[in-house]
Amino acid sequence: MNQTKPVIAILGGTGKEGPGLALRWANAGYTILIGSRQAEKAQNTAQEINQTLGIQTVKGYENAEAARRAEICVLTVVQTAHQEALTSLKEVLQGKILVDATARVDFRNPKPPEPPAAARIAQEILGEGVRVVAAFQNVPAAALRKLDQPVHGDVLICADDLEAAEAVMQLARDGGMNAYYAGGLDNAIVVEGLTALLISLNKHYKSKTASIHVAGLD
Ligand SMILES: NC(=O)c1ccc[n+]([C@@H]2O[C@H](COP(=O)([O-])OP(=O)(O)OC[C@H]3O[C@@H](n4cnc5c(N)ncnc54)[C@H](OP(=O)(O)O)[C@@H]3O)[C@@H](O)[C@H]2O)c1
Repeated sequence: MNQTKPVIAILGGTGKEGPGLALRWANAGYTILIGSRQAEKAQNTAQEINQTLGIQTVKGYENAEAARRAEICVLTVVQTAHQEALTSLKEVLQGKILVDATARVDFRNPKPPEPPAAARIAQEILGEGVRVVAAFQNVPAAALRKLDQPVHGDVLICADDLEAAEAVMQLARDGGMNAYYAGGLDNAIVVEGLTALLISLNKHYKSKTASIHVAGLD
């Protein structure tokens, strides 16, 4: 990766979480490629982001083409399509960083998922040629969309490769988020489980943006 900002592909970037991340990073000057199963749907989402920001740099492609053109790929497909999407994109992701934002929690009945972590499953599917980083599972799409406000709450980054983790921490910071390295990929199961707590808090307190803060670090 060179000194300039890496090109970022958001795979499954037409839903709720993907466009929120794309909006933050495009606003920070990153080249953002929206991915979808349908190129036209990706182009429509890209155009919406461009209109919001008054830019023309966000482009839309079919997922594999977006991944091929990027250095860092962020997976934001619906959680039920996690393994299917990774299997279909395995070849094109080789040599890249794959950021997995998957939190396998049912909004209607939020409970912590069983191990292994989604990101560990991703690493097993993709193999050693891809550096998987788990991140953003606790960042609500609703908070990302409010560009005029900082994202409250901290991003916990789990990865077996520290250099890849640092690249994603920089992305988080550039998107207006605090980020902390929180250990290896297997720890991401705890971060996914926190999403169940946050959804439960949102439901009980009638909010959309409950989040967690790390305390006690210098
Ligand atoms: N929503 C949040 O606030 C939030 C917060 C933190 C983390 N997350 C995580 O982020 C991920 C995305 O969440 P979301 O709420 O944005 O999901 P979503 O809106 O339900 O879906 C995202 C995208 O997934 C793609 N998709 C659907 N079925 C697919 C399939 N069979 N194969 C490949 N792609 C498929 C669709 O894109 P195309 O139809 O364009 O292909 C869709 O736009 C999830 O893993 C979730 O746990 C979400």
